Amino acid sequence: MNSQLQNRTPVGPQTFPGAFWCPDLISTRDLGPQGVEAVLHLAELMKSRPSVFQRALAGKQMVMFFEKPSLRTRLTFEAGMTSLGGSAIFVDQTNGRLDAREKLSDIAHNLERWVDVIVLRTFAQETIDDMAQFASIPVINALSDLEHPCQALADYFTLQERFGDLRRVRLAYVGDGNNVAHSLLLTCACLGSSIRIATPEGYAPKDDIVADAIEIAKQTGARIDLFTDPRTAVAGADAIYTDAWASMGQEHEEAQRSSIFPPYQVNRKLMAKAAPHAVFMHCLPAHRGEEVTDEVMDSDSSLIFEQAENRLHVQKAILYLLLGGAVRLPIRSAHA
Ligand code: CP
Ligand code: NVA
Repeated sequence: MNSQLQNRTPVGPQTFPGAFWCPDLISTRDLGPQGVEAVLHLAELMKSRPSVFQRALAGKQMVMFFEKPSLRTRLTFEAGMTSLGGSAIFVDQTNGRLDAREKLSDIAHNLERWVDVIVLRTFAQETIDDMAQFASIPVINALSDLEHPCQALADYFTLQERFGDLRRVRLAYVGDGNNVAHSLLLTCACLGSSIRIATPEGYAPKDDIVADAIEIAKQTGARIDLFTDPRTAVAGADAIYTDAWASMGQEHEEAQRSSIFPPYQVNRKLMAKAAPHAVFMHCLPAHRGEEVTDEVMDSDSSLIFEQAENRLHVQKAILYLLLGGAVRLPIRSAHA
């Protein structure tokens, strides 16, 4: 991010103490506890008073390069940027990796002269890390094989809307220890919440992500527990979350994974082991009949469309924080 943007006069509600600023969102780790709080708080303001922010990013341009398909992430970024007065350019990169034609650093030095923010959906996390390194404008991770930070922020925002104080919420994630699980772990840690993850042997979240989440949890009081038995993980939980057994890019493993993951299916029997008020969550797209049954997806307990809606509000908050720079937000003392 360049200094011109950092010094920009704040737009919208700006008279708060406690500024938060971060240059890129390539991992939830970039935000840390204070940044996660800031995103959630700003998303709440933006959702309740969208008209206040209508011109907040007027004249700003966002470019998106997606190496993988998307419905929610693409449309919520486009709609979100437009509703803040900015504009979006989408580049379909599904036919070849971003750096197949020229060096990533050359692409970065072109983009930084034309637009204000780069949103990337890639296979390799390294592509996003490198782009953030090379480009002088903010870079946002719209999903990589390693993380899906925007998703997890929207998910915890949704949980906060449903349950209030996130420090009292017990989330159980069952299935593959994938990008979504990684970002949920880190977001939970930042918020001082509680997560119980159950994965088959060999499919646990990556050790370094778990170690970082545990490190953050030492500051925030978060609880992180890993299991292999889904019934143990969901016992008494307030929310059960699952995701695809084979993520984008793992299609060649589908047959093998289909033979391993069935005990992790979220069905009525598994939901019954959670708290009576428990909700069901999924980032979507769902593979009905695999990781979740129709009955659970379509039940009154299902929060899937609230999660999808909140992608919009949370990403607006992320764009505003990264591009607004000087906005001053009240940071709630969740970990005091
Ligand atoms: N949840 C999510 O990121 O959906 P898309 O792949 O459709 O963007
Ligand atoms: N884990 C899934 C998430 C899709 C939004 C994938 O990466 O395909």
